[in-house]
Amino acid sequence: MQINIGILGLGTVGCGTVEVLRRNAALVAKRSGCELRVTRIATRTPHKPRPVEVDRSLISGDVEAVLRDPDIHIVAELIGGVEPARDYVLRALAAGKSVVTANKELIAKHGGEIEEAAARAGVDFRFEGSVGGGIPLVAPLRESLIGNRVTQLMGILNGTTNYILTKMTQGGADFDDVLREAQSLGYAEADPTADVDGFDTTYKLAILAGIAFGAPVSPDSIAREGIRGVGARDIEYAREMGFVIKLIALGRQAEDGEIELRVHPALLPQGHPLASVNDVFNSVLMHGDAVGDVMFYGRGAGGEPTASAVVADLVEVARDLRCGAAGRGGGRRRAEFAWKDLAAFVTRLCVRVPVADRPRNAGAHRRCFRR
Ligand SMILES: NC(=O)c1ccc[n+]([C@@H]2O[C@H](COP(=O)([O-])OP(=O)(O)OC[C@H]3O[C@@H](n4cnc5c(N)ncnc54)[C@H](OP(=O)(O)O)[C@@H]3O)[C@@H](O)[C@H]2O)c1
Repeated sequence: MQINIGILGLGTVGCGTVEVLRRNAALVAKRSGCELRVTRIATRTPHKPRPVEVDRSLISGDVEAVLRDPDIHIVAELIGGVEPARDYVLRALAAGKSVVTANKELIAKHGGEIEEAAARAGVDFRFEGSVGGGIPLVAPLRESLIGNRVTQLMGILNGTTNYILTKMTQGGADFDDVLREAQSLGYAEADPTADVDGFDTTYKLAILAGIAFGAPVSPDSIAREGIRGVGARDIEYAREMGFVIKLIALGRQAEDGEIELRVHPALLPQGHPLASVNDVFNSVLMHGDAVGDVMFYGRGAGGEPTASAVVADLVEVARDLRCGAAGRGGGRRRAEFAWKDLAAFVTRLCVRVPVADRPRNAGAHRRCFRR
C-alpha cells in the first residue's frame, strides 16, 4: 500500500524528515508494510536551497494544494508556532487527513482542541517529536507505562539552557558570555527568550504532564523561572556544596491527587541521575508505582533526531491506515485535576545574599532566616 505524505515546512525538522524517509525508505517499507512517499511539500520560500536531496518539483509555496489534495493521507506540520499552524492542522483533520507534528507550542496550547477534532474526523493525530526531540517519551507514556500510576516526572527538556549551564559549570564563564557563544554556534536563537526564560520547557512539561496525569494542562498554570539569574558564582558555590545547577521541569502528583508543576533552576546533588546530563542532551526521569524509576536520555533537538520521532509517527499512522484503524487513539478521557498553587509548594530553597564582610551584617541576615 502506498501512503502519500504532504509536508508543511522544510526547515531543520522538515529537511531531516525528508532525508530520513529517503535514506531509510526500504527499511520503513519493510517494517510498516507500506511505501511512505512524500508527494507534496509546501514551504514559505520554495526556491531557497535546502541541505537535503529532494525532488524540487514537489516543493511549492502553496499550502492549500497540500490541504486540498485528495490523494494525501498524512500531513506533517513542521512549520512551528501557533498560527497559521493551528489553522492548517485543523483543516487537514477536517479534510480527513491524519496529522503528525513536532510543534510543542501548538500542542501545549491547543492540544485538547486538536485531539477532539481528530477524534471527530476519525483520523490519527500524533506528536512524538514535540517533546524531547528524538527521545521517545509520548509513546512510552501512552503505551509501555500505561499500567502505571505515574507519580513523578522530572526532566531536563531544553538543550539550549542545558548547554549554557554545562559550559558555565565547566568553564566558570558567566551567563551572557556563554549565551553569545551558544548563539554563534547555532545552539541558541537570536532571540533566546523561549529557551532561557523557560517557556519552551513549560510547553514540554505541559504536554508530558497532560499525558502522565491524564489532565489538560495549560502552560500558563506552570510556575516558571528561567536561567538568566544564574551567575558563575551560584555555580561555583553549588559545586562547593556538592551540587550542580540544572533547569528542571518537575511534575508531581501527591497522594491526595493534587498536581504540582514547576520549571526552574534547581540544585541537584552531583550523584543525581540528571546531574550528569550535559551539553544539548535532554533526559527525563519518571516514577511509576509499578515500574519504579525509568530514565530516558538522548538528543532533545536537531533535524534528524527530531525526524526520528516524526518518521515513527508517520509509520504508526501508515500502519493504522493499512489496517483501517485510523482514529483508534481518539476521544481520550481527560479528568479535571486540582493544581497546587505556587504558594503551597513545599521545597528547600538555597538563598545567596551578597553582603559586605562585617560581623554585624552576617548576624542581621542570620536573624532574617531564624524561625
Ligand atoms: N529544530 C529542532 O531541533 C526541533 C526539535 C523538536 C521540535 N521542533 C519543532 O519542529 C517545528 C519546526 O521546527 P524547525 O526547527 O524545523 O523550524 P525551522 O527550521 O524554522 O523551519 C520552519 C519551516 O517552516 C516554513 N514556514 C514558516 N512559516 C510558514 C508558513 N506560513 N507556511 C509554510 N511554511 C512556513 C519555513 O519556510 P522557509 O524555510 O521556506 O522560509 C521553514 O522551512 C517547530 O514546531 C519546532 O518547535 C524543532
